Parts: sequence; C-alpha cells; structure tokens
Amino acid sequence: MPSNLAKRFPSTARQPLQETIWQHLTTSRTHTLRLFEGVNAEIFCRQADADFSPVGWHLGHIGYTEGLWLLEKEAGYPPQFPEYRRLFAADGLPKAERQNLPSFATICDYLDQIRDQVWDYLQVAPLESRAWLWYWLVQHESQHCETIIWVLQLHQQQRGDEGELTTPALRTRGKPHPPAEPGSPPKDMIYVEGGPFLLGSEGLDALDNEQTSHRVEVPPFWIDPYPVTQRQFQRFIDAGGYQNRQFWSAAGWRWLQDHSVCQPAHWVETDGDSLPVCGVSWYEAEAFTQFVGKRLPTEAEWEKAACWQPKSLNAPTSTPKRTYPWGDQAPTVEECNYGGLNGGTTPVGHYPQGQSAYGCYDLLGNVWEWTDTWFHPYPDFEPYPYQGYSMAYFDHRHRVLKGGSWATHPPVLRSTFRNWYEPRIRSHFAGFRCAYG
Ligand code: AVJ
Ligand code: FE
Repeated sequence: MPSNLAKRFPSTARQPLQETIWQHLTTSRTHTLRLFEGVNAEIFCRQADADFSPVGWHLGHIGYTEGLWLLEKEAGYPPQFPEYRRLFAADGLPKAERQNLPSFATICDYLDQIRDQVWDYLQVAPLESRAWLWYWLVQHESQHCETIIWVLQLHQQQRGDEGELTTPALRTRGKPHPPAEPGSPPKDMIYVEGGPFLLGSEGLDALDNEQTSHRVEVPPFWIDPYPVTQRQFQRFIDAGGYQNRQFWSAAGWRWLQDHSVCQPAHWVETDGDSLPVCGVSWYEAEAFTQFVGKRLPTEAEWEKAACWQPKSLNAPTSTPKRTYPWGDQAPTVEECNYGGLNGGTTPVGHYPQGQSAYGCYDLLGNVWEWTDTWFHPYPDFEPYPYQGYSMAYFDHRHRVLKGGSWATHPPVLRSTFRNWYEPRIRSHFAGFRCAYG
C-alpha cells in the first residue's frame, strides 16, 4: 500500500464530514490496491475480452477520474499529467488500444500524487454542499473495483492449463462453501401486497439516476425468497432449456444462436447446488423464468420487496422505507456476502439476518439480480456529475440490475442502487430471482 495515504492529512485536523470522506476514500483505495496482489505485468496490461479494458487501465482510470473531477473541475487546479488524459479517459482510446500501459508501480505513483493533492483540497473544500461529488467518486472507484474482479475472473477462465492466477481476489477452486443454515428456507413464494411505494433515494450518496425519489403504485405480486440456485437451473439445462426455442424471446433466441452457450458463465461444479446462478445474460434469466412459468420482477417490485416495511409492521412514527433489507445499519458479515470477503458466492439463505421485512434473503450481495426494467430516468432527472454517467444509457438497450454481488463494495451496496448492462452481457456476477402475478 502506498505509504503516504495518511501522511498528508493528520487525523487531529479533520472535521466530521472530512473524516467520513477521508475514511471512505482511504478504505476504497486499500480495497482497490489489494486486488492487484499477485497480478503479473502481463495480466495487468492484457485485454481479456473485447467488452472490457485491461485491469491496469481501470486502475489508471480511477486516478484520472479523481484528478479530473476533484482537482481540475472542483478545485480549479491546472490540468496535470496531460499524457494520461487520452489513455485513461473513458472517452479516450478505444478499449482495444488500452494495452500499452505504464507499469503498476508507475500508475500507483500517479494515484499517490493525485491523492496528495486531494488531501490538500479536502482541508479547504466546501463539503456541506458538495458532498455528493465526493460520494460519487468513492462509488466510481467501487464500481471499477468490481469490474477489475470480473476481468481477473475472465483471465482465470482463459488460462486453462497455465494454472490459476495467484490473486487473492478470486476464490481458489474447490474450496468448500460453508453449509446453508439448516431449517431456514421457506420454499414458497412471498406475497407482497399492492399499494404505494417510494422508489429511489434522496440520500447524500444518491447518484443522479436514483433521483428524484417518487411514489409509484405497485400492484400485488409474488417474489421468490432466494435468487435462483444452480440446482434449480440445472433442471432447466437437463430439460434442454438451451435447445428449446419455446422458452426464449425472439431477441433471446437470436442471441443464443450467435453464442454457443450451455451453462452460466461462473458455474461452480463442486458442492454448488445451493449457490445462486452467477454469470447469466438477461436472455438466459428470462428463458428460465418462462421454463418455470414465472417472470422477472420489475425494478420497483424488487426494491419494494427489499426495503419497504408492510403497514402491519410499521410503527406509526417510522418511515416505511429502509436503506438496507434488514434496516438502516451498514452491512456487516452477518447480513450479506459482499466486498470480495468470501472470494465468491455463498449458498442462498446463508444470511438469515439479512432478510427483508417481507422475508426475502440475499437481496444485497452474493449476485446482482436482473430485473425486467429498462434503465430509464426518474422524474425530474438531472444528470451529474456529467451527462455520460447515466443519461447515455437511457436508450432502451440496458436492463436494470439490483442488489450488488459478492464482489461489490459497501459504498454501492444499498437497495436503491441501480446498475445497468446490455441484456447480452454475462461475464459479470449476475443472477436473478423470479416473480409471479
Ligand atoms: C454502472 C457499472 C455500468 O462501470 O460501466 C464507471 C459505472 N461509469 N465509470 C460502468 C461507471 C463510469 C458503470 N456501470
Ligand atoms: Fe469510470
């Protein structure tokens, strides 16, 4: 870890909001750098797949984005490291041309130099009014961390005979999973009564696409208590699900013809029965729901099942919406599988303390969950910090995912967080749960 992380900003000098932000930034960076332990120079620079940049690029991009938004745009410092602009800006080089990278040490040094100045600026920055920008940056880094983990996993899968990567970010194959808590699983679907629900967030950390929060009428529906497991999905495979046109939408079938796919991308062979399905495209998720006569939940249904308290449980003084399924306390290892702490997925139902008021398990962490909803703006949407962050994806080509995965870091772990990908993407840590009604 770079030695200067704490040096420039002594704890005695920090105000409460400065302290919180300092903590978030420091913790995120520690997580980020830990992912690179055991990553050699070749993997650092190599593109694993046309859809993704090399992991080393993500590292540089994290630093570049911090410098751009905090130092240049916010603090008004003159632009620095002009040589990195084209290389590390999201709209710079095409993905395939991002393999000619400075070394890990050089990029770390770049990140350090930016951080030094960020600490200087943090001492004078107007935080009360601008906290959202700092929170955005922390969440930006967290999201790239997760992408780094899936790119590493892609490399892992491509290595074959060459052996496993030594990075501790990934589970060593064959490591046994902790058994699911016995006696916990209710088998049936959970009923969620109809009625008004408050979708979105106005929190300090809310991203542009979570605002403004607004009332929606959600008709009654049923939802699965767990994400779909490998055991359940195996039945779909065994029944010829990948060969049978009848389960697939027209777009899904077209996708399937172009891709020789016969099981989820992150399938775990050993003792994997009660692990959630991980690494499916939206089309595969949709086909499975057809197979079992159910459907994918809408985003509003998923969020309601995750963080709403039914009237009967609601004390007259409390608000019915909570930040997390279990309440308003930040996640710990008691409630969910997140932050890469388990190196992979855990059996569904493994975290009874993470249940929502309606009784759903595994809503946060473990696997992202595809929803039936196209990524779209909420009422009075205002783009920030830049138009391209969310607005560029309101194109009816991206489906919303909710809940975070085993690799998701706490800054982006909340019920209102919206992720989005094209339906064809399947290398990320996404599964799904079924709804009905
Ligand atoms: C919201 C995760 C799809 O990584 O492409 C990072 C987040 N935007 N830098 C992505 C993002 C700009 C985005 N996702
Ligand atoms: Fe980015």
